[in-house]
Amino acid sequence: RKIIHFDSIDSTNIKAKQLAAEGAKEGTVVIAEEQTMGRGRLGRGWVSPKGKGIWMSIILRPNIDPIDASKVTQIGAAAVWSALSKVGVDAYIKWPNDIVLNGKKVCGILTEMSAELNRINYLVIGIGVNVNINSQEIPKEINNIATSIKAEVGHDVDRKFITAEILNNFERFYNELIKYGSIKTSIEICRKASILLGREIKIITNKGERRAKAIDITEQGELLIEENGKIEKLISGEISVRG
Ligand code: BTN
Repeated sequence: RKIIHFDSIDSTNIKAKQLAAEGAKEGTVVIAEEQTMGRGRLGRGWVSPKGKGIWMSIILRPNIDPIDASKVTQIGAAAVWSALSKVGVDAYIKWPNDIVLNGKKVCGILTEMSAELNRINYLVIGIGVNVNINSQEIPKEINNIATSIKAEVGHDVDRKFITAEILNNFERFYNELIKYGSIKTSIEICRKASILLGREIKIITNKGERRAKAIDITEQGELLIEENGKIEKLISGEISVRG
């Protein structure tokens, strides 16, 4: 497995996409101490201070339908959650791609795809974990929604150990998808660690907000919701827990 390490880079996702387009092998990992232009979902940024977090991207070339690309995000969430749980950090997964700790976001996942027709050319799964950022260093504008492991547990945690755990878990769960076409192990974790299941949630779309109840996460990684007695499957979305 090839790991490419940078002291400082604009964004590991940008770099990984560039390398993938140039033919980099599946399993190539791009990791950086610092990102100067970390990217989040929906065109947002991602604060990535030097040596304080895990900022990495994995290049994948799964032979699956592009429609199923979001399964890899579920694998990523399960891999991160399991790694945190191994160091005693008791987090939750907020479907589809956040890990939350004490109600605030501690990890985000950004999956990007290049595909043509029914074939995936490459997938880049970007994982950002706020590990040892001091609470005072979290920008004020986001400190009500974002946190770091250190800010919650009160001490530094081993970034290298967590990185290795995430990658090992990821490889294991991803192999299940490649070999058997299943993400069963990941989904079991996503279910048991879910902060949404059984709760009233708010689904935020460009058409406005809807309220529903989160029922289950399917074997395909979709969120099953119930709205006015009707069951529906979501494949992605922005969700907030109803307060
Ligand atoms: C989100 O929750 O909005 C997704 C955040 C993803 C952040 C990670 S950090 C490593 C990789 N490189 C990026 O520029 N973004 C992802």
